Amino acid sequence: MEKITLNLHGSFIEENELKRIKPEIMAAQKSLLNRKGVSSEMTGWLDYMYRIEKKEYEEIKTAAKYIKENSEAFILLGIGGSYLGAKAAIEAVRGDFHNELLSPQVYYAGLNLSGAYLKKLIRLVKEKEISIIVISKSGTTLETALSFRIFRELMEEKYGEESKNRIFVVTDKNKGALKSMSELKGYKTFVVPDDIGGRYSVITPVGLLPMAAAGLDIDKFMEGLKSGAEEYSDRNFESNACLLYAAARNILNRRNKEIEIFVNYEPSCTSIAEWWKQLYGESEGKEGKGIFPASLNFTTDLHSMGQFVQEGRKILFETTLSIENSQDDMEVPFDSNDFDRLNYISGKTFNYINSKAFEGTFMAHKDGNVPGIIITVPKMDEFYLAKLFYFFMMSCGISGYTIKVDPFTQPGVEAYKKNMFRLLGNKEKI
Ligand code: PA5
Repeated sequence: MEKITLNLHGSFIEENELKRIKPEIMAAQKSLLNRKGVSSEMTGWLDYMYRIEKKEYEEIKTAAKYIKENSEAFILLGIGGSYLGAKAAIEAVRGDFHNELLSPQVYYAGLNLSGAYLKKLIRLVKEKEISIIVISKSGTTLETALSFRIFRELMEEKYGEESKNRIFVVTDKNKGALKSMSELKGYKTFVVPDDIGGRYSVITPVGLLPMAAAGLDIDKFMEGLKSGAEEYSDRNFESNACLLYAAARNILNRRNKEIEIFVNYEPSCTSIAEWWKQLYGESEGKEGKGIFPASLNFTTDLHSMGQFVQEGRKILFETTLSIENSQDDMEVPFDSNDFDRLNYISGKTFNYINSKAFEGTFMAHKDGNVPGIIITVPKMDEFYLAKLFYFFMMSCGISGYTIKVDPFTQPGVEAYKKNMFRLLGNKEKI
């Protein structure tokens, strides 16, 4: 088994800076691992993969098998931490165009309030054999609840009594409208544990059920989590990539680098960046603190945002996700006419050319004084993806404790809801 590695050579971070921040990072790690920090009751994700009930785990597999065998498509209803991790995993592992190439197809709803989106999605799936996975820890989130009302009606019209066998719910063990409705209607439910918040929940049924229904190997995923837990709980600062990543981000932030751009060169990994943005944005962005998490897809965005990164305000640093072995590849053919003057790279693979684009970009940005961090993953399968999720979650918890915010709450999310409910005339929620 190879490791996920961290390369700080382009970060402009000096040994003595790492030495200086080390005690803070080590203290934060200690608080997190010993469950002595703020909101330690929300750190159940640290060891959930060792604690998940066998019965719950087997039932996830059974439900996933039913969905795969009986559906051309399934729709995942959820928002924020209730869909981002599963979407990231499904896209990264199944690869580009997976919905056109593989079955079942996977669609997402309950993640916005767009009537146009919902109407088109319904037009797209209504003639197919479908199943629904509804995920909401609170069971009351408006976006998800509204979409579920629409899909529930559709399912009941389409399948009658049988609809209850095609609707799967992941929610709180005891409370929330979704839980009580599931009991009344007879839907199969799975539990989002009390001690795990939305953006850390990809390792629970929140991520496991949709992943398994999409054909991902969740046994391998669980192995990756365990490997991550072992490796990143190591208390040796110099050899623990997770600690060094937390250290590097905070050193750069203290040098007024306010924005971290998560960069990848594989389109199938775009949603990993979306998951990562929520994780860091909601965990650190409070009390006027935090690094703004942004993302770019290279080389595509080099033709739109590359100019700013190279020569714009020096408030950025870049964290690139590099995948050593890609799923597929193609060779550039030889053309005897060579009208396009590309024969100099004929016989080379696209992955090779992509890697040279990465090296060239990294050097250019370094010359432009943009610090760069590289995270290299041996390959993008269930094992390494789980390990990468764990790497970021652990490092995020440590980073949050280092800047002295609570990385497990999100009080700021309520502000828009309050106004929206008032404007909609909901007296209960004001
Ligand atoms: O990380 C979080 O807690 C949030 O992003 C939630 O996941 C999101 O708001 C959805 O909440 P719920 O699962 O209760 O519908």
